[in-house]
Amino acid sequence: MLNITLESHDDYKAVERLTFAAFETMELPGRTHTDEHFLAHIMRDRSAFVPELDFIGTIGGEIIANIMYTKSKIIRPNGSETEAVTFGPVSVKPELHRNGYGAAIIRHSLYAARKRGYGTVIIVGHADYYPRFGFKPASEYNLTMPDGGVFDAFMALELRQGYLGTSGGKWYEDEVFDIYKTAFSKWNVEFQKAFS
Ligand SMILES: CC(C)(COP(=O)(O)OP(=O)(O)OC[C@H]1O[C@@H](n2cnc3c(N)ncnc32)[C@H](O)[C@@H]1OP(=O)(O)O)[C@@H](O)C(=O)NCCC(=O)NCCS
Repeated sequence: MLNITLESHDDYKAVERLTFAAFETMELPGRTHTDEHFLAHIMRDRSAFVPELDFIGTIGGEIIANIMYTKSKIIRPNGSETEAVTFGPVSVKPELHRNGYGAAIIRHSLYAARKRGYGTVIIVGHADYYPRFGFKPASEYNLTMPDGGVFDAFMALELRQGYLGTSGGKWYEDEVFDIYKTAFSKWNVEFQKAFS
């Protein structure tokens, strides 16, 4: 049985290894390398990081699943801000995919987010997977990316009915999602030099 608890400092390395292993299995057109473990590594230092929604799932003491959240925001057409939270990375040990562990830790975290009073979860993720948790296309709430873009993988879940309203706006995730790509490239050049 999956035992879900908050992540502690001692779990960091195992969670980053799990994140690397899980995302290594992800195939997307144009994807050249795995760097989500580095995102997990630097995300915990951000003020936007949400420790109360940072969960691990263990079986027999081994961490086989995890999910991490950051705060994000919607800027409304009238300039006002609406708080949101965003999850990712979310990972399950590759050998254990499709056993319901991903769904279990996602549901647990959504329940915890609702209980903590958050109003909405907004994500960019697998458009075939997340609707089962109640996620809808963000366009249904008139939300767009900062550049005005809208696409299937951009989804929103209301934790409180009516929280998102209909006025829409642009959704901004924490800067760490931009920063980590460049930071990883620089770090990885140095890291790879050790092998050349
Ligand atoms: C996504 C992930 C967390 C799901 O965990 P899981 O334990 O395998 O998921 P569950 O057993 O709860 O659910 C399995 C379902 O997820 C679906 N699923 C898994 N990965 C998917 C993907 N990339 N795209 C669409 N659906 C996916 C499966 O098709 C399966 O659907 P089914 O129930 O209709 O057969 C896991 O596959 C993983 O770690 N993937 C690599 C990292 C990743 O992609 N993270 C999410 C980024 S948005």
